[in-house]
Amino acid sequence: MPEGRLAGAFAPPYSHGGRRNRSMTAEIAPAFPHRHLLGIEGLSRPDIEALLARADDAVALSRQVEKKRNVLRGRTQINLFFEPSTRTQSSFELAGKRLGADVMNMSVASSSVKKGETLIDTAATLNAMRPDIIVVRHHSAGAVHLLARKVDCAVVNAGDGAHEHPTQALLDALTIRRNKGGIEGLTVAICGDVLHSRVARSNILLLNALGARVRVIGPSTLLPTGVARLGVEVFTNMREGLKGCDIVMMLRLQRERMNGSFVPSVKEYFRYYGLDSEKLALAKPDALVMHPGPMNRGVEISSEIADGAQSLIREQVEMGVAVRMAVLEALATHLPNG
Ligand code: CP
Repeated sequence: MPEGRLAGAFAPPYSHGGRRNRSMTAEIAPAFPHRHLLGIEGLSRPDIEALLARADDAVALSRQVEKKRNVLRGRTQINLFFEPSTRTQSSFELAGKRLGADVMNMSVASSSVKKGETLIDTAATLNAMRPDIIVVRHHSAGAVHLLARKVDCAVVNAGDGAHEHPTQALLDALTIRRNKGGIEGLTVAICGDVLHSRVARSNILLLNALGARVRVIGPSTLLPTGVARLGVEVFTNMREGLKGCDIVMMLRLQRERMNGSFVPSVKEYFRYYGLDSEKLALAKPDALVMHPGPMNRGVEISSEIADGAQSLIREQVEMGVAVRMAVLEALATHLPNG
């Protein structure tokens, strides 16, 4: 845990020694200087580290029998998901409820969006109900930014097209930090379908901000043009790219975003870019494996690795709830009477 960490409202009474009975939010919680969380882009290193510190405390809270706090008591949180989700939507719901919010999951499948209502009209309609926080996932890059300009409440990006997925990158960073003791100087390989991945983009921004060495590995058809300009080393040979890595982060082959054929066949893809024990052996002996989920076993990762001793995949899910609690708590400071 970094020196001088500043805890959030989750800290006492269950957290680390010496700080019992202090009102952390009032006394030392850092002011998060943003009204929304729309991306990792725009966050400073102190912003990121403060969120991770709050999330560490939320992990401790979530491991207790009594998991609830009142930070969002009286607040209304709407989860508006235009794309399917298991992990993100459920963890935002749990996070909001653990902080005392009233959480509504808006089912787009049964909403007026299906009758042709625009995103702006949907936003204006929800805004009229006076929510405090809207968590949005949308299939178009930039849609969440647009929505944020049309509502009065805080907005959290839960994934917009191939653009950003900031809470995924934060939970990945929290998972790495808790297992490796820090992020600075680590070599992290992000492997697979980088082209269609908002997870990759947010992770590249965040890991670079925290001083990691980032590599991207994939077939040239699945690497964005000019990706090196994001400050990464680029490999099309996975065996070369994995050498000496501390963290191997696999990405899902996002066939729903592919317009055309990007790989010859799934079998061929797994042979060259699927993570199995033979390829993982090229990374450092203590390398750890991550995947944001949902996984395609036998496409980008073997079951042996996904369920093996080096896998952090289940822990990432646990960290997801904590990070989302940290984000909601940080944004709550900007709400009226926050
Ligand atoms: N990692 C992630 O965003 O998973 P979901 O699509 O299940 O939310």
